Amino acid sequence: MKNKPRQLLIPFLFIFFLSTVLIPALSQGKNLEITHGPYLQNLSSEEVTIIWFTNKKSVSSVEYSTGENFNTFPQWGGLLQTAQSSRHGLIDANSERHIIQLRELTAGKTYRYRVISKEILQFEPYEVIYGNTVVGDINEFITFDPDKDQFSFQAVQDIHDDSERLDSLLQSISWDQVDMVFFNGDTLSHLNEENDIFSGFLDVSVKRFASRIPFFFIRGNHETRGSFARELIDYFPPRDSRYYYTFKHGPVFFIILDSGEDKPDDSPVYAGLADFDLYREEQAKWLQEVILREDFKNAAFRVAFFHIPPFSKIYSSQEITRLWVPWLNKGKVDLAICGHLHRRVRQDPESGKNDFTYIVGSREDSFRIDVKPDHLKVNILNLKGETLDTFLLPTKKAEVPETPQ
Ligand SMILES: [Fe+2]
Repeated sequence: MKNKPRQLLIPFLFIFFLSTVLIPALSQGKNLEITHGPYLQNLSSEEVTIIWFTNKKSVSSVEYSTGENFNTFPQWGGLLQTAQSSRHGLIDANSERHIIQLRELTAGKTYRYRVISKEILQFEPYEVIYGNTVVGDINEFITFDPDKDQFSFQAVQDIHDDSERLDSLLQSISWDQVDMVFFNGDTLSHLNEENDIFSGFLDVSVKRFASRIPFFFIRGNHETRGSFARELIDYFPPRDSRYYYTFKHGPVFFIILDSGEDKPDDSPVYAGLADFDLYREEQAKWLQEVILREDFKNAAFRVAFFHIPPFSKIYSSQEITRLWVPWLNKGKVDLAICGHLHRRVRQDPESGKNDFTYIVGSREDSFRIDVKPDHLKVNILNLKGETLDTFLLPTKKAEVPETPQ
């Protein structure tokens, strides 16, 4: 009987320890943080997608404003809007990846935004308990403008996870007038896990530009490799949910194509998991439809991006020459920008082959294209931002694209 108070005391102390020390410690741990991003995707004259990541499961929103009264933040002059993402009636929640689209934006307008995530400590059917909230820095972007008659864009290729080299390239860029950046394939050498994306190029890109200037992630052959390759599209979700698409900014009509793997589908290295022959043919059929579109025909410039260039001995290059080049020729494309070869190529139009100029960058090159009302100025730059080559492509506006036969 003497021991009874002690017998009661031990469970009491244990419960006290659980409730006051252990459970709060486990539930809070490290504070809620934004770990990667935010970065902009699919910017257009009307929309943008903002993506970021947190270290804990959260529910998220974006606050944004056209910014007539930026100085009155956080009220933003009463013009502040909030966006969340919901599907099938449910607001996206309990995730460490946050993807929110801002819609019904105005063309050519400056917007400011900040991302907000609220931790979900417990997610039970009848009890959701929220934790801390984290608020990102205020960033700014400008929506695309169909009436804009000049701007610049930047392209890099074959980064191959070398984020230090990418950082040097990005530091050398003069960002004035740059409205978008293209990663033209093999930015990553393979995909085994999510962190390959962050460490390979994304964190450096966010640090340098990607919270305020959109990038377009074009798939190269290396990004088709690895157990995580099938998840890649969820990190850079294109508007049409596929890696090939078009968009327009100012006088330029952009065509993004996905050149796939470099070897035949039955090559043993793909272990029976490649299906790119049909995929390239599917894109050829799509390309025929694109060049019939009025907005394509009416564009002052037509620029195509694809990772593997035409006219080389590589298997898929020959397929691209056979399947895509005839339609790029008929469509009066001005310029194709490629990578893959790890060496510099500039190929001017050649009768009976390519009616368009195509350029291929080395791993150390970046391309800066200055779009002017009557010409494209192509600049090939080295790691230090010094110009290695420059040339002009006058508009072919007077040349109406041929109707495909
Ligand atoms: Fe490649």
